[in-house]
Amino acid sequence: MALHRIAATTDIPSGEARAFGVAGRRIAVFNIGGKFQAIDDTCPHDGGPLSEGMMEDDCVTCPWHGATFELCTGKEQTSLAGEDVRSYDVVIEGEDLSVEIE
Ligand code: FES
Repeated sequence: MALHRIAATTDIPSGEARAFGVAGRRIAVFNIGGKFQAIDDTCPHDGGPLSEGMMEDDCVTCPWHGATFELCTGKEQTSLAGEDVRSYDVVIEGEDLSVEIE
């Protein structure tokens, strides 16, 4: 596991998400009222950007066709994609936001 600093906490306003390229992946980081969650940005159904999806009830809905994923686990809540996305541990140190990647 390696810790990768990817942003400042202030880069992601509450209620929004941003995508970052890190370690050859695209990772979406969500700010839910000051709590940060990170999952793969790329929807396994057809590649939609999950960081641009709608957040609701600790889940995000893909903006392309509506597959829904739980933000803390990456588990798909629909059966559209037929696959979960990876979730990542987020570490906050001061204003630095890092994710743990294998
Ligand atoms: S690309 Fe995400 S649901 Fe189709």
